[in-house]
Amino acid sequence: MRETQRETVQVSPLGDDLAFLDVVTEWDMVTVYQDWKTAIVVPPTFLPGSLPRIVAICNQKGGAGKTVTTLELAMALVAQGLRVRIIDADPQQASMSAWLRFFYPEGVASENRKNLKDLYFDDDVTLSDITYATPYEGLHLVPSFPDLEDVESKQPTGTDTLLRFQLRKNDDGIDVTLIDCGPKLGPLTASALVAADDVVIPVQAASGLDVMGAAALDRTIATVKKRLNPDLRVAGVILTDFTRSSLARKIGGGLAKRYPDAVIAPARQNVRIGDAQLARQPLRIFESGATTVLDYDRAARILFTRGR
Ligand SMILES: Nc1ncnc2c1ncn2[C@@H]1O[C@H](COP(=O)(O)OP(=O)(O)OP(=O)(O)O)[C@@H](O)[C@H]1O
Ligand SMILES: [Mg+2]
Repeated sequence: MRETQRETVQVSPLGDDLAFLDVVTEWDMVTVYQDWKTAIVVPPTFLPGSLPRIVAICNQKGGAGKTVTTLELAMALVAQGLRVRIIDADPQQASMSAWLRFFYPEGVASENRKNLKDLYFDDDVTLSDITYATPYEGLHLVPSFPDLEDVESKQPTGTDTLLRFQLRKNDDGIDVTLIDCGPKLGPLTASALVAADDVVIPVQAASGLDVMGAAALDRTIATVKKRLNPDLRVAGVILTDFTRSSLARKIGGGLAKRYPDAVIAPARQNVRIGDAQLARQPLRIFESGATTVLDYDRAARILFTRGR
């Protein structure tokens, strides 16, 4: 892994006295709406995975909250003292690699600054070579740029399994790798699903279209499970941009039914996410007391480190 001389910021854990959402075992569709309380669903059949863990954050629908979810879960895990790597697997211009700052090692000429695309096209590049430090202690980024699209158009040999092969080496001591997928079910997303232990699906809490996007994702997950990665599972659904509404309640209820073994966790609406992006800071740093930050913190603990 490429180290730099720059100082990094230590991300602190949250205090214990904060108003988290309740944890329940099933989504409540019974209580009259006026009395309904939003909560995180952790079904009795859910098992948090062991570390190290590889997690694909997927929904083929654009704007579902994949990038926000990836970064805020990552920051929550780093605050718990874990070593975390984000892989930006989305070729879009203004995506994770534009939001999360990262440092190329000093003294490396710009033509030798490799990124995710090089992993697919250059046999001499390892995941370690393209894993860079960020301003946050324990958080690393594998960046990508719009030319990552070449992977989709050219599909170099081994596209499906290359990321899995590289990640299974894990010679960097990373505890959790989070893969931020793009809004497509093409070869890049397929290679993330082949590499992953878990899928986390973000769905805008009040968007019927995001739910439809997740339906297409289900078919891809089923195919990947059959052909290349039988142990893949949907570990969680994050209801992003969440406000309490009867539609959000209905959507949450439908998803809880569709993924009976997965954690269903709301991430409450925050109007300052755009400001945090412009400041190039995770929400956890930009507005550390935000309820959304608490929600992602709780979700990260339940999904990956419960019982540790
Ligand atoms: N908790 C939240 N509160 C308010 N707005 C949110 C929340 N989560 C996500 N959003 C909004 O949704 C937008 C899209 O989120 P994000 O970029 O994470 O989606 P995405 O699925 O990664 O999109 P793409 O498919 O383009 O990669 C954010 O820029 C933000 O404006
Ligand atoms: Mg995104």
